[in-house]
Amino acid sequence: MMQIDFTGKNFLVTGGAGVGVGAGICEAISDCGGTLLLNDLDAVKTKTAAKKYPNAHAVVGDISNAKDVERIFEEIKNEYGIVHGLVNNAGIGLHKNAHLADESEFDNLYNIDVKGVWLMARTFVRQLMKANEVGHIVNISSVHARETTAKYALYASAKAAVEGLTRGMSIELGEFGVRCNAVAPGYVDSEQSRDAVASWTDKPKAWIQGQKNDYQSLRHMISARDCGNAVVFLLSHMANSITGQTLTVDAGFTNLLYANSFIPNTQ
Ligand SMILES: NC(=O)c1ccc[n+]([C@@H]2O[C@H](COP(=O)([O-])OP(=O)(O)OC[C@H]3O[C@@H](n4cnc5c(N)ncnc54)[C@H](O)[C@@H]3O)[C@@H](O)[C@H]2O)c1
Repeated sequence: MMQIDFTGKNFLVTGGAGVGVGAGICEAISDCGGTLLLNDLDAVKTKTAAKKYPNAHAVVGDISNAKDVERIFEEIKNEYGIVHGLVNNAGIGLHKNAHLADESEFDNLYNIDVKGVWLMARTFVRQLMKANEVGHIVNISSVHARETTAKYALYASAKAAVEGLTRGMSIELGEFGVRCNAVAPGYVDSEQSRDAVASWTDKPKAWIQGQKNDYQSLRHMISARDCGNAVVFLLSHMANSITGQTLTVDAGFTNLLYANSFIPNTQ
């Protein structure tokens, strides 16, 4: 039987205390026997999240701060050893037209969604090289990196940068056997996503039904675990020859030229 076994390996998941995609990633890595190093901003929240998994430890720190990032890896090395897999999941959104956003909003978004991903990837690779070890990176992008909508231009550009960084680093790191890929989720169902929908429509349930039935080929909600499974695959030996790629987990959302209701009887 083919299996993914992460026993004895350390996986660092940024934004791991999040209730959305991060939770699905942590669950999937944990189910493969990996040791989880959960990073997030808030100590209580991170420690509480770590308690959900049998072999998980909280590593508090801000990924957008270079000193914090150095400390995160130092702390892990001293306590648990080398990190074998990095998942750059932490990210924030910005729901505002580009011409209406101010400089601090731009800086905050790019500091976390782009600079943070680079700082973590850079430090991850340096600790691998120092220890003469091999490990792999998965960055969490979004369908917005390629197709987007009003009020998402800056978020879309940040995620496009993440995919560019993924491709570029995959080339630079190939000779060391280090693979670097991305996962681009579509609309992932979580309490938080439902709250986000409620901020732009007064009929959130109808919007979510519409997303599922009209804007996806597969008519089910994408779960955080669906994203986690894709991450595990890319971190594992199963993806041995895959690097520089973005795996889209969107239930077919970005393939559609028209909403399904445009041609109601497809059969
Ligand atoms: N939820 C979706 O539908 C969806 C779709 C596509 C892509 N994504 C991406 O998935 C990732 C997770 O998003 P989510 O919706 O699950 O969000 P989430 O808010 O549940 O998780 C993000 C976590 O990141 C943490 N975080 C924020 N800034 C940080 C920092 N500077 N340092 C360390 N941790 C920090 C937050 O505290 C939070 O716990 C993001 O990169 C997001 O862009 C989400």
